Amino acid sequence: MCGIIAYTGTQQAAPILMDGLRRLAYRGYDSAGVVVQNRSKLKALRAAGKLENLAARKPESIKGTCGMGHTRWATHGEATEANAHPHLSNDQRVAIIHNGIIENADQLRTRLSNEGVEFLSETDSEVLAHLIRRELDSAENLLDAVCNTLKIIQGTYGLVVIDSEQPNTLVAARAGSPVVIGIGENEMLVASDTTALASHTREVSHLLDGDVALITPKGMQVRSLDTGLREPQTTQLDEHTAETGRGEFPNYMLKEIFEQPESLARTLGGRLDKRFNTVRLGGLNVSARELLDVRAVKILGCGTAYYAGLSGAHMIESLARLSTSAEPAAEFRYRNPVIERDVLYVVVSQSGETFDTLAATREIQRKGGQVIGINNVVGSSLAREVDGGIYMHAGPEISVASTKAYTSMVASLALLAVYLGRIRDLSPEAGGQIISALEALPAQVTEVLSQSEEIASVAAQVQNAKSAFFIGRAAAHPIALEGALKLKEIAYLHAEAYPTSELKHGPLALIDENMPTVAALPNDDLLDKSISSLAEINARRGPIVVITNANDPRIEKLASHIVRVPDTHDALHPVLMAVALQLFAYHVANALGKDVDQPRNLAKSVTVE
Ligand code: M6R
Repeated sequence: MCGIIAYTGTQQAAPILMDGLRRLAYRGYDSAGVVVQNRSKLKALRAAGKLENLAARKPESIKGTCGMGHTRWATHGEATEANAHPHLSNDQRVAIIHNGIIENADQLRTRLSNEGVEFLSETDSEVLAHLIRRELDSAENLLDAVCNTLKIIQGTYGLVVIDSEQPNTLVAARAGSPVVIGIGENEMLVASDTTALASHTREVSHLLDGDVALITPKGMQVRSLDTGLREPQTTQLDEHTAETGRGEFPNYMLKEIFEQPESLARTLGGRLDKRFNTVRLGGLNVSARELLDVRAVKILGCGTAYYAGLSGAHMIESLARLSTSAEPAAEFRYRNPVIERDVLYVVVSQSGETFDTLAATREIQRKGGQVIGINNVVGSSLAREVDGGIYMHAGPEISVASTKAYTSMVASLALLAVYLGRIRDLSPEAGGQIISALEALPAQVTEVLSQSEEIASVAAQVQNAKSAFFIGRAAAHPIALEGALKLKEIAYLHAEAYPTSELKHGPLALIDENMPTVAALPNDDLLDKSISSLAEINARRGPIVVITNANDPRIEKLASHIVRVPDTHDALHPVLMAVALQLFAYHVANALGKDVDQPRNLAKSVTVE
């Protein structure tokens, strides 16, 4: 959740660290800090609040060519300057930045306090600085001191350490929180994700859990805490990793919403096989013959990825006639799930670093299950650990609210559904219909985007509501869930999604003129039944916003506002309707003056439990 950046090389470190922190601010943004080796001293600066507060303290004035920076998402202790990283040992010799949770921090704090250590923060992370400093008295070097410390701590960490007495040297370690090393010419960087590295180098090396790396401008040495020295593998970053500018857009969220025609085209690019009316999925690593033995599919993810999974489950059931369900990854992994040989497990994640999704993947693999991933970040932990999968190629998603990644997840799941369908009973004709619909999708998203202004005026009508319902039936229910999540997340309005059919079983009691309902209403077999529900809401004077591809006069009568989306294959309504709902949430939040890119209390990548 926190952002980590570190540098050692020949250039001034502080400007590189601040640039890295700007690129990483979406990971956590409640406080930030940097530390630089300045001659034989460590000079640190920290500030509570957004990164501008740190920038105002002019960190660039600290000279030195080795240092590290951190942007925090608080777990232990409030977002104060004292709790901001880096944390230093009492004699200022050692500094650490940390992402993760030290579970035995309380016991270690008590022990260290009894030994005379003075704690300056409420964080769990601070113990690391003091423990490493203590180990330095007996260890041969910083690497050994870090390794000795890591043996006594329990929890998760992405960690970087600097010692004032070991010039131009960084030690980085990983257990459960991502750490990636950027390899340059006479310079090396460390970061919590590749977004911060891409403007410096394309050559990177991912640390594995249990790795500790000694890093100098000339190179690195990697030691596994379990198996000793190991040869690090390097990979080249995807060409889109460096594209993190906002362009002419006022914020990343709007930019990413408007990028969806291109991001979807990339997800689909080269994968639609019109000759055989199927799709090509090179990275699945499961043969068609093996997939014929699959009896059911289980999709796992968190938040938006889970909702995309719910839509995927509808698509796979209807196109491939395979029993499919989706479940939040965190719930799945804690219920001692039965893992079956003939079930295909699909884990969905934009970042590929979500702790619970990774943990669910490992649980399935430990029990012998086969897992494929649908993932955006090339080389992420999930991408490296799954048995095969589909890269979304949506490009970097910076805004905390997932938009273009969601539509690319749904499109990737549609590809999987067609593939599974075509090796089963989906006819070439039916396969051809969805392939054509997929092909048309990017241009249709452009049509929805062209209604942004109209959607803004609809949003203006409901922005003063205290709460809103989102409804949809069957395959449209996950669309309602996603729409409600977007509104909660960025507009801080209470929003609840429920299946339209549940209206009379409780929610109707809350309907009055102050309770707007947003309905995802595809023109499908359930249209008539859904319209009856809208009539019941209308009879209680509840304002109704309808997102629909249906041209039905009854809707005109019942709805206060209608947002029209183009006709598509039944399976693909989630893509077009979600774009309209993203714009709706965006315009409500914008009208309320919220910071849409960095909503309060949230972070982009949830790498802790
Ligand atoms: O990186 P992931 O796709 O695994 O992230 C999962 C969720 O944390 C994420 O989708 C979250 O729900 C979004 N902020 C929603 O917009």
